[in-house]
Amino acid sequence: MKRVVCPGSFDPITFGHLDIIKRASSIFDEVVIAVLVNQTKKTLFTVEERISMIQEVTKEYSNVTVDSWSGLLVDYCKQNEIPMIVKGLRAVTDFDYELQMSQINLQLQGVETLFMSTAPAHSFLSSSLVKEIASFGGDVSSYIPAVLLDRLKSRLKSK
Ligand code: PNS
Repeated sequence: MKRVVCPGSFDPITFGHLDIIKRASSIFDEVVIAVLVNQTKKTLFTVEERISMIQEVTKEYSNVTVDSWSGLLVDYCKQNEIPMIVKGLRAVTDFDYELQMSQINLQLQGVETLFMSTAPAHSFLSSSLVKEIASFGGDVSSYIPAVLLDRLKSRLKSK
């Protein structure tokens, strides 16, 4: 069985993430979306809230599950016998950091990384930009699923 993990902060999940998840789910037997801690980011939503949002917007994919982990990604992979990480690459600006992480993950535990190129329609998209636009009252309905719009708005209002 070919099982892969799509890791990230997903704060919140965007159409860019969903595009990669959908494409990965059509190639692999099982895709585990892992909500992880990125120590360089302060999140708007709790891990539980992010898991619930991801579950809601991925429920149509029967081979996609959602989990969380607060340690090293490679330790999660080893513990769950997942040999490969799948990540989206948006642009050359992602490349240095992603390459470095993939090489460290390979060296630490022999876990492979497969990069899928982000669809051009989403190449500029990030959760951080979505939050910034929404915080100034901008329209983010082209960037995140409709069911998440109110949750994002009310969370930003309460901040
Ligand atoms: O969506 P993000 O924030 O770009 O995802 C980055 C993430 C969470 C995948 C990355 O920070 C990560 O793997 N964190 C877990 C800890 C870890 O394994 N760090 C990498 C060691 S090189």
